Amino acid sequence: MAVKKEAREWYKEAVFYQIWVRSFADGNGDGIGDLYGVYDKLEYVKSLGVTAIWFNPLYPSPNADFGYDISDYCNIHPDYGDLDQFKKVLNRAHELGMKVIMDLVINHTSDEHPWFLESRKGGDDNPYKDYYIWRDEPNNWDSIFEGKAWEYDPVRGQYYLHLFAKKQPDLNMDNPAVREEVKKVLRFWLSMGVDGFREDVINFISKKEGLPNGIGFLPIIGSMHNYKDGPHIHEYLAEFRKVCDEYGAVQIGEGPMTTVNNALKYLSGDTKSMDMMFSFDHMMADCLFTEYYHRPFKLIRFKKALSRWQYKLADKAWNSLYLENHDHPRIISRYGSEKFHRESGTALATAYMFLKGTPFIYQGQEIGMTNIRLKSIDDYVDVSTINNYHKYHLKDTVEQRLRRIHLSSRDSARTPVQWDDSENAGFSSAKPWFFVNPNYKTINVAAEEKDENSILNYYRRCVKLREGNSVLLYGDYREYAHDNPFVYMYERRKGRTSCFVICSFTGQPITFMLPKGFAGHSAKMLLTNYPDKRVTGRVGKLPEKGLKLSPYEAMVIKMKRV
Ligand code: GLC
Ligand code: CA
Repeated sequence: MAVKKEAREWYKEAVFYQIWVRSFADGNGDGIGDLYGVYDKLEYVKSLGVTAIWFNPLYPSPNADFGYDISDYCNIHPDYGDLDQFKKVLNRAHELGMKVIMDLVINHTSDEHPWFLESRKGGDDNPYKDYYIWRDEPNNWDSIFEGKAWEYDPVRGQYYLHLFAKKQPDLNMDNPAVREEVKKVLRFWLSMGVDGFREDVINFISKKEGLPNGIGFLPIIGSMHNYKDGPHIHEYLAEFRKVCDEYGAVQIGEGPMTTVNNALKYLSGDTKSMDMMFSFDHMMADCLFTEYYHRPFKLIRFKKALSRWQYKLADKAWNSLYLENHDHPRIISRYGSEKFHRESGTALATAYMFLKGTPFIYQGQEIGMTNIRLKSIDDYVDVSTINNYHKYHLKDTVEQRLRRIHLSSRDSARTPVQWDDSENAGFSSAKPWFFVNPNYKTINVAAEEKDENSILNYYRRCVKLREGNSVLLYGDYREYAHDNPFVYMYERRKGRTSCFVICSFTGQPITFMLPKGFAGHSAKMLLTNYPDKRVTGRVGKLPEKGLKLSPYEAMVIKMKRV
């Protein structure tokens, strides 16, 4: 079959919307989000201006990790519908001009997957015997979600490796038969018409030979060196890339803790196997493992991380841009301010949507959903939240420990989408499977639709501004005022035209001294999150004595450069 490489270039001008289906919209009234609900909301998704959808795992799963523990790769979870309903959604999305990508989770399966059930039986002539990683004695690795990385299986009489939860045994990617299974899965979805994959913890799939013990005192990180960007990773990914090439499918790798230099190996040159990678660096602006060691948000760390990826990838590779997803708490609560809800929600949108790369918007982010604060750890359902609570800071008071959970739990990003102010936030006619954030009375889609200045309508403006704008799409990136702890300022430049993004990250009014050479220049306002203060499109002169910025004020201005 001919290689259709160019066919996938669409991703550079795309804007993605991420759907974590269980909490998106319930179409059949059982309290669980599903593909019937998605179908009904496709016009809404389209109305944001987005051109592609990423679905978190939709497959059958015992939900030990809400879909990331797959028990059948080629089917749809009965909670969400069936293959026919998926095809309806896929076709309708395509009709509306939106691409669809699936989540590919191949580092591990569920322990209820038939391959694992066979593998545990062992036996020399069992073809599934080496589908997973079995040992007589465990090494010292820690899992990311649930204690030690090895679990004893009494059926087989050996230990199996699980980098995540106990119910997520790691596949043995060194086994060529496993790689053939992966290719079958790719072909199954690609031949149905899906446009690509987001590939879960893809930089973990090749483990160091002999599985040596981890070193260092930080348990998880110490183990990680033995499986992150491992020895055969690029060989294996080349095999999968070949299949995706046949269909012109886009591949986006999740690369936890990968460095930008390592990321370039996935994204460029002979070893290119991915079109984009999700970096975690800017998620450390407070701290990723917030339950473990929480530190307050620092804008400088945030800017540094984003700039590092912008500069290093510049002309070599393409960035993926995100602030929220199903693994990270809500950004207004984390990097912004719930007090300045609208202002900080729109400032955060401005800060990342105009970087060079492809923006991803996570469900609910576009209306400024915030973290939920549940009263007891028993109300939480995420395996890593529960484990972290019971593992770290045990000497602290319950209140202190819960506070950390409020700041960091993945469950904060997984509350039902707030559609309106009716019961259950319009998410479902039945009691939702998980808690609705009580602020749904004011923060909801219906209310924001009506308000021209809402966060929702601001996201639409951002998407529109980026659309077809060659400076914002392809212009070079440069950061200014990088030592300023309150303001993020960057330039996107193409030829003699530049767009500048200026965002305040503080609830205090401030005066921002523009970098040398800017004062007195004529500039045109393209976008502002303070609708009453400025008229978009007005040409004015940049002030000599510093730019006065209101709390979380953000703008995009355009200037001719000499
Ligand atoms: C990725 C997913 C996360 C999941 C983990 C294990 O980080 O985004 O939700 O728990 O991988 O599959
Ligand atoms: Ca349902």
